Amino acid sequence: MAETVTTVTPTPRARVQAMKEYHPPLGSREALRLDFNENTVECSPRVKETLAAISAGSLTRYPEREPVEAIVAAHLGLLPGQVVLTNGVDEAIHILFETFLGADDEILLPVPTYTMYEVYASATDARLVAVEAVHDLQFPFEGLMKAISPHTKVIAIANPNSPSGSVATRAQLLELAARAPQAVLLVDEAYFHFFGETVMDLVGRVSNLVVARTFSKAYGLAGLRLGLMAGPVELMRWVRRVLSPYSVNSLALACLPPAIEDTAYLDWYVGEVLAARTEFEAALDAAGVRRWPSRANFVLVEIGTQHAEFVRLMRDAGVLVRDRSSDPGCDGRVRITIGTRAQMQQAVTALHQALAALRTEGTNR
Ligand SMILES: Cc1ncc(COP(=O)(O)O)c(C=O)c1O
Repeated sequence: MAETVTTVTPTPRARVQAMKEYHPPLGSREALRLDFNENTVECSPRVKETLAAISAGSLTRYPEREPVEAIVAAHLGLLPGQVVLTNGVDEAIHILFETFLGADDEILLPVPTYTMYEVYASATDARLVAVEAVHDLQFPFEGLMKAISPHTKVIAIANPNSPSGSVATRAQLLELAARAPQAVLLVDEAYFHFFGETVMDLVGRVSNLVVARTFSKAYGLAGLRLGLMAGPVELMRWVRRVLSPYSVNSLALACLPPAIEDTAYLDWYVGEVLAARTEFEAALDAAGVRRWPSRANFVLVEIGTQHAEFVRLMRDAGVLVRDRSSDPGCDGRVRITIGTRAQMQQAVTALHQALAALRTEGTNR
């Protein structure tokens, strides 16, 4: 008997059909990686040892998140029920949006900001309300306060923000949380270690606050995919209903305790980046390149109409940087991750070469 083969392709939800595809430029990155705000060296040696000691037999078991959540909660001074580990902060964002955003709801985002908020928001049936930073990429506090409506269900704020490096104050975050008690206020502290200020201590005290942290930046574990969100036990209970119990793999779970224990490594890396940031900012000023003040491990700079050419010239000189021109309010602007002092000296040399080449091109036109 002949096999019946269906040739009709099912269509996804209308909202998914309307989504833009997002392809971060991850290909051919064998150079100095100053394009994704990653750790530019390597993770703690204790994490490396842990990975090397993992047995093949242990991989046969499903990963158990809860014991590690308890360790992380103790580290943060929180209750185990207030902490949910995720497959990177991206999964925390995704699950939080899935849990709270329905068809009549609105999600409020200051823009420009981290791209994945928009990606996950557009996959829900909620309305995306973007509030553009009007004062030179500073946190648009007034605009956000005005945009809050009875339908606002999630407000997502990266603090420090990417790509601008700007920050919201604790008082502003508290005012937003109080103005929208019906909404979850997500404060994404992906760059916390370079900033030093946090609202993690308010978790559980402010009934609608959820704080996210990643292990992809200062800890140098972007490849393991490890993040967390922390919030009131009731909110985290809803989130756990939606999240897979196995979404954080056993390698990542094994590496988390040594990563947080090795404070000497973290202090070294953060200290190195902060020193390098000061030196790099001085080099930008000396070269006459406009920059935005940053509290994170990256700096946004103004290149102007030749931004794409600048990124190409930097790549030719062995340094990857990220063109942010398509972000709202960022035309002509490029984001440069801060690595170690030695790496940033290499970046400064490449920057001088690139700027000289652009000037030559400009005069030959
Ligand atoms: C603000 C912000 N949140 C989250 C992330 C991603 O974190 P993760 O690697 O844990 O998914 C990034 C990465 O660039 C980021 O800039």
